[in-house]
Amino acid sequence: MTAVMSIVVATTNRGKLAEIRALLGDLAVEVLSPCDALSDVPNVIEDGDTFEANALKKARVIAAESMMLTLADDSGLVVDSLGGRPGVRSARFASEGATDGENNAELLRQMCELGDELRAARFRCAIALVDPWSAEGDEIVVEGSCEGSIAHQPTGTGGFGYDPLFVVAGQERTMAELSEDEKNQISHRAKALAKLQPKLAAIVEERLTTAARILSTPPPSAVSRK
Ligand code: IMP
Repeated sequence: MTAVMSIVVATTNRGKLAEIRALLGDLAVEVLSPCDALSDVPNVIEDGDTFEANALKKARVIAAESMMLTLADDSGLVVDSLGGRPGVRSARFASEGATDGENNAELLRQMCELGDELRAARFRCAIALVDPWSAEGDEIVVEGSCEGSIAHQPTGTGGFGYDPLFVVAGQERTMAELSEDEKNQISHRAKALAKLQPKLAAIVEERLTTAARILSTPPPSAVSRK
């Protein structure tokens, strides 16, 4: 499909970017990373207490820098018996700058004494959309979640982050054992983006209408020659 506009997705996480690209595949938009859109990408400190606050902060900063329609995802794993941790600290659970492997090992370490009945968890995702050109300063935040439980050891090679430890509710498989398509049917990110789809489709439609109006207006030189 030919893209009629670009949208920046405010993340440096390649796993997220790939999923969001696939999930927006039906829209005529080109998905750019902050590095594609900006020569100097600001480092946004994710210091909010909620996924929603962090998503909005990331989207606002990158929208202000790029002056482009910007979408940001803040997401993570919520484990009931750990009081909701890792939560907003999912990316840096083991330590600042930790790898996925280190975070997974830390999660298993903290849960090693817990039996199956205490391993309930969910992925949560908040997605913020900020349009710096909207007169009303349009900002939207949507959310989605996916229920499951934490396995006793990692299984599967797909996805990213905690996927190898997250057994999807109603399935015998971890998120990392699902195909890309299967994950994109049921994930927290897919559910959040589905709520944003009508708004994004309306923005694309409006751009198309504006472009058609501009293209059908004769240029000033053609007018003056008459
Ligand atoms: P953020 O960049 O602060 O939103 O951090 C998100 C972190 O949450 C990632 O680094 C992963 O550790 C975890 N996470 C979010 N979504 C997923 C997912 O779909 N699968 C596995 N881990 C995820």
